[in-house]
Amino acid sequence: MDKITELKKLEEELEADRKLPLFGQSNLVFGEGSADCKVMFIGEAPGFHEDQQKRPFVGRAGQLLRTMIREIGWKEEEVYITNIVKRRPPENRDPLPEEIEAYKPYLAKQIEIIDPKVIAPLGRFSMNYFLPEAKISRDQGKVFRLDGRLVVPLYHPAAALRSTEVLNELKASFKKLPDIVAGNNLVLIPKAIPPESLKKKPQARLF
Ligand code: URA
Repeated sequence: MDKITELKKLEEELEADRKLPLFGQSNLVFGEGSADCKVMFIGEAPGFHEDQQKRPFVGRAGQLLRTMIREIGWKEEEVYITNIVKRRPPENRDPLPEEIEAYKPYLAKQIEIIDPKVIAPLGRFSMNYFLPEAKISRDQGKVFRLDGRLVVPLYHPAAALRSTEVLNELKASFKKLPDIVAGNNLVLIPKAIPPESLKKKPQARLF
């Protein structure tokens, strides 16, 4: 089976899985882009506009993400864009741990089918799904090796809409992506994060 057919099949399974939290409450936003992409951008969960259009990252934050993709010379259709939780939580609240857990097998399968070289989690939630001990302000833009792939956590574009400093850092990290994909000048960080980071201080919420 080719990748597009496999993804279609997975989407149909997801659509029909009545046990999933948020089933029947909001639309399925499966993801879009190239099944042969090298880079997969993964956000948290769809918001209002994404739910309406059944497409990921189409609101203001999404427009910023898509502009930044084009600014580094890529086409939106060449990458793949999706979320961990594939339906909008009510009132745009953060996804609950049980929602993340329930959608996990589908995201895992989606990643397995697409098999990207680089995963770029957007924001703290998505980053911590892949790198539980990472800290967004310290680790965004760094290149981690995880299960044979590279993971490059990035600030969530919604956070960049609220802070020029975050926007500038996000843009700087974006500029590094073509070299990371090409394997040039890679400074790889193994998955393990230094133990001192485990003594977590309470973190301010970004979004
Ligand atoms: N924020 C996300 O995390 N995902 C979207 O699709 C839109 C906004």
